[in-house]
Amino acid sequence: MNGTSQPPILEARGITKSFGGFCVVNGISLDLGAAEILGVIGPNGAGKSTLFNLLAGALPIDAGSIHLAGKDLSQARPEARIKSGLGRTFQIPRPFPRMTVLENVMTAAQNQHGESLLSALIAPRQVAAQERSNAIRARDLLDFVSLSHLEDQPASVLSGGQRKLLELARVLMAEPKVILLDEPAAGVNPALLDLIIDRIHAINKLGIAVLLIEHNMEMIARLCPRVIVMAAGKALAEGTPEEVTKRADVIDVYLEGMPA
Ligand SMILES: Nc1ncnc2c1ncn2[C@@H]1O[C@H](COP(=O)(O)OP(=O)(O)O)[C@@H](O)[C@H]1O
Ligand SMILES: [Mg+2]
Repeated sequence: MNGTSQPPILEARGITKSFGGFCVVNGISLDLGAAEILGVIGPNGAGKSTLFNLLAGALPIDAGSIHLAGKDLSQARPEARIKSGLGRTFQIPRPFPRMTVLENVMTAAQNQHGESLLSALIAPRQVAAQERSNAIRARDLLDFVSLSHLEDQPASVLSGGQRKLLELARVLMAEPKVILLDEPAAGVNPALLDLIIDRIHAINKLGIAVLLIEHNMEMIARLCPRVIVMAAGKALAEGTPEEVTKRADVIDVYLEGMPA
């Protein structure tokens, strides 16, 4: 159940992963509603980013299953998951530093015939037309994330917050149904925080479901009607941000991670 009576778009069951005999993600199940923003919170080392890597296919699962819109993606390659509509951003964004901001967004398009030498030779006009339509879409997305003024700059000039915004534009370029956002507020200047929150709301209003890892509780409270608390690889609690942050067991796992 996802508490919103929406049919789930993303269904994960019993997701499990060990590294060297140490279980980092231990039987996580979740249903993400088709129009939901679901938060994933928990102390450092809880296994949140690993869970995203498993959902996105960057790492193979040891056990469990992953379905997107009813389709079994449990063993699918990352590119196949992106094509099926599962997008993700990284906790630490790594744009191609020497490419321009616009080029960085364009490389995330999923319909690039130009990448194949054969189609570039036999259908150069179609390839050129597609490049143009991808450029238009990429510019629209840069406008959406307020980075248009930087489109011709190398991505290396972007601030931490601007890199997070570039990641949002890149993930949207692939026309996802679901996006996994790993700490979109980390390293972000407070002045950009409102913009990022507002853009995530806007993305969700477009009908894209969002799974959001975030430490910034203001962001969680403003975006997520429901959160899952992860600790030591397991789901410790689930509820509204207000409910879970009052729970003694949740407070304990956060305190355990604090320096004495
Ligand atoms: N590729 C890996 N190999 C070995 N251990 C890993 C790997 N990735 C993550 N871990 C370990 O898994 C645990 C969970 O990490 P992570 O998923 O990054 O947590 P979180 O995102 O919640 O802070 C940590 O103890 C981390 O050191
Ligand atoms: Mg992490």
